[in-house]
Amino acid sequence: MNVRSSLKLRAERPPPAPDKVHKAKILIVDDDERNLLALTEVLDSLAEVVTATSGRDALRALLREDFAVILLDVFMPEMDGYETAGFIRERDQTARIPIIFLSAVNKETEHLMRGYAMGAVDYVFKPVDALVLHSKAAVFVDLYKLRREIEERNRAEIVLQEAKFRAEEQRLEIERELQATRLRQAAILNSLPVVLFEATYSEKDGLRRRVVGGDRSALSGDAAAWLRDDEARWEDQILAEDRPAVASEYAKPCGKGDRASVRYRWATADGPPLYLLEQAVRVDDRAWVGSITDVTAQSLLENQLLQAQKLDALGQLTGGVAHDFNNLLAAVLGGIQLLARRTNLDQSQQAILDQMREAVDQGIALVKSLLAFARKQPLSPTSIDPETLRKSVMGLVDHALDTTFPVDWTVTAEDHAFFADPSQLTLVLLNLIINARDAMPGGGTISIVIDRPSEPSTSADGLRIVVADEGPGIPAEILDKVTEPFFTTKPPGKGTGLGLSMAAGFAEQSGGKLLISAPPNGGTRVEIKLPARRVDCDEDL
Ligand SMILES: Nc1ncnc2c1ncn2[C@@H]1O[C@H](COP(=O)(O)OP(=O)(O)OP(=O)(O)O)[C@@H](O)[C@H]1O
Ligand SMILES: [Mg+2]
Repeated sequence: MNVRSSLKLRAERPPPAPDKVHKAKILIVDDDERNLLALTEVLDSLAEVVTATSGRDALRALLREDFAVILLDVFMPEMDGYETAGFIRERDQTARIPIIFLSAVNKETEHLMRGYAMGAVDYVFKPVDALVLHSKAAVFVDLYKLRREIEERNRAEIVLQEAKFRAEEQRLEIERELQATRLRQAAILNSLPVVLFEATYSEKDGLRRRVVGGDRSALSGDAAAWLRDDEARWEDQILAEDRPAVASEYAKPCGKGDRASVRYRWATADGPPLYLLEQAVRVDDRAWVGSITDVTAQSLLENQLLQAQKLDALGQLTGGVAHDFNNLLAAVLGGIQLLARRTNLDQSQQAILDQMREAVDQGIALVKSLLAFARKQPLSPTSIDPETLRKSVMGLVDHALDTTFPVDWTVTAEDHAFFADPSQLTLVLLNLIINARDAMPGGGTISIVIDRPSEPSTSADGLRIVVADEGPGIPAEILDKVTEPFFTTKPPGKGTGLGLSMAAGFAEQSGGKLLISAPPNGGTRVEIKLPARRVDCDEDL
């Protein structure tokens, strides 16, 4: 049993009532009622007196109660004083109660010795001297009271110690629980894929955020470092167009909106801006707590989806108009041809008719581009090997490019042939080369690579053409607009804005894909993936 549980056991015993402890009792045993009366008279003032007229009565009383001292008559019928004393000493609970023998005779040493051997502490001879008896009994009563007081104090001390011990245990337990809760909460907060902040708002400085938890690495790139190093300048990195939305979200009067939720773009040092979602709760007039989540990936996907939906809607519209327009142009062309055949025209009239036919031809070319963008162009796919493609493209562009624009062809997939409409593919490459030329007014190399992408998993991965230039590249903010029809940055009359849109439409209609990117070392890189076949086995890849 350990110390604590033994203490507990003792403490669980109810402490004795104070009156029981201090009220000493004296047991007087005598078969003579008169003696009992007289002795009671003498000792009454000392303690409560309990009387017994026989040894048996005395033992019974001892079973019930505790006594400071026993006055025991030696000569009694049935069980005499010695025998009674013998029983008293045998029982653990009573063995230490002092016994004073009362005897009228037997002052001889032999009897006295027997009495002491049976546990007597004293002898008083009858007739009893009241003063002597009183003083002798008083010694034992005092001793008894003293002993009881000490016992009581010990017991009280143990109870006190136990209570202190329990209180300390409870305090430690609460502290342990508190610590565990704190650690658990910190672990949860730090593993959240968001950054948690506290902030104060003022109109002058905007929101001053201070990171208090979360996982900073949830913000990509330098945003995490910024939050750590210079939180005051966080606001400066928010793109200018998005700042008013952020400001108005936090400037709401207290009570009008205790929650703020705003998505903004945050400029990074060396890449496109991050899209961050900031959500906060107002805790008092100027203080907020909140979280920042990097939603760049979702936002880019959303933008792509919107762009795709927009192009799709545009494609349907353009396709319908272009189709009808094509029929109208065919009628105009038919009319011009009829007129040219039937009438004798003079030279100037013939020139007018030629201009009209040229305009209609341009109209037809425009309609073709629109149909290509709308993926409604009638296509006749067939095998075209890279070398044939190179020759037909170079035959067309040679006159449009002077020596300041060398075209550098690299073909690493001679054993494959594109499976696409050859004249449309040629036209697309023509458009890309012209774009590259226009991007480099001072001249520069246009490089064209035809190869097989490393994982030919789908037929769209069959063959790849990459057209790259050394121009300034396409600015990030217009990158997803350049494939929209009629989007051009060229001056009026110089570009229709249909080149890239028809190229993208053609790639998709052919079962491939067009990707435009800005290589890190500058320039523009347009990549077209198209289905292809192996030249020797003539099988789709
Ligand atoms: N190689 C390039 N380098 C830089 N910007 C380019 C490049 N290619 C295209 N662009 C940009 O994309 C815009 C759209 O190109 P697209 O080919 O669709 O139309 P365009 O060249 O302006 O007109 P069109 O091709 O119909 O004559 C261009 O106006 C230009 O701003
Ligand atoms: Mg173009």
